Amino acid sequence: MSERLVLAIETSCDETAVAVARGDGSILTSQIASQIDLHSPYGGVVPELASRNHNLDLKPLIEKALKDGGIRLGEIDAVAATSGPGLASSLLVGDTTAKAIAVGLGRPFYSINHIEGHLLSPFIGAGTDPPAHVALVVSGGHTMLVSFHGVGNYEVLGSTKDDAAGEAFDKVGKMLELSYPGGPEIARLAEVGDAGAYDFPRSMIDSGDHEFSFSGLKTSALYLLQKIQQPMSQTVMSDFCASFQEAIVDVLVTKLFRAVEEEGVRVAAISGGVSCNARLRERSLAQAESLSIDLRLPEPSHSTDNAAMIAYAAACRRAGGEAGSDLNSDIDPNLNLA
Ligand code: KG4
Ligand code: ZN
Repeated sequence: MSERLVLAIETSCDETAVAVARGDGSILTSQIASQIDLHSPYGGVVPELASRNHNLDLKPLIEKALKDGGIRLGEIDAVAATSGPGLASSLLVGDTTAKAIAVGLGRPFYSINHIEGHLLSPFIGAGTDPPAHVALVVSGGHTMLVSFHGVGNYEVLGSTKDDAAGEAFDKVGKMLELSYPGGPEIARLAEVGDAGAYDFPRSMIDSGDHEFSFSGLKTSALYLLQKIQQPMSQTVMSDFCASFQEAIVDVLVTKLFRAVEEEGVRVAAISGGVSCNARLRERSLAQAESLSIDLRLPEPSHSTDNAAMIAYAAACRRAGGEAGSDLNSDIDPNLNLA
């Protein structure tokens, strides 16, 4: 029997990624060619460099995925790509390549929303029909709370009014002259720091809604840095990082579980690059346990940008009976989840 294999391409930002999912949503292979070293000297992603390198890396990466999965291109039953949100020139490379393969094979094409990929990622390996839950999607580009009613049925409860949580990590990382992206670096330094050493604001923690704001936190980090004697000792640096991280984690954990309570569900999920954060995982798992909530977290390799989550999203949509997307569909750098 055919395994209903979906080949997916993700090129929304600076990771070139290719994966193949089986019809049941399990992942046959997931490959990533990271461009971090390329963009690091610039302190952020350079769009033209990103798209040119997607173009160079994509064909060998597809070949690597097929080899690793032990399959031939002709065995692919459907092709998917991230069509937004993201960098326009980067999205175009993956979207166009996926459509070309779909046309060549005479197979359907699935246009997938990058945020939907993150949203579904904690359920990879758990079938194609995730349960109703409240999800926190927290990455470099997004911070949002979503009420998940079923595949394709998403209600955005709230999102950030300014910076995303990952963006706040990265901007403060830049202020601290850490390598890009700052999030994992701050998390590493925070491991040995005192989270109570400095008092950072918990913006909108009691706002009574599901919105977030992290730009004030970033500004307070800048002011505090101007007051601290430079160069900072390793201890001061670690305390600063631990305190800053705790402020973000406090807000995320508090607002997630408030939304879970309000929506009256027993399942919660966290996804996106920031869901790699060890302190966020530890605090949210502890809170879930105390409230008897079933908290789902993605594997670390499925937290940051990857194509397994895009292949999985396409497998879920196929399993739900969706026939595919129009080949004339456009990419959309500002695509919304719902
Ligand atoms: O999901 P992702 O790969 O890309 C977007 O869709 O934005 O997320 C990248 C973000 C970056 O801001 C990065 O600093 C953050 O995830 N990140 C972390 C950690 N690992 C990645 N932030 C805090 N702690 C981490 N361990
Ligand atoms: Zn992402």
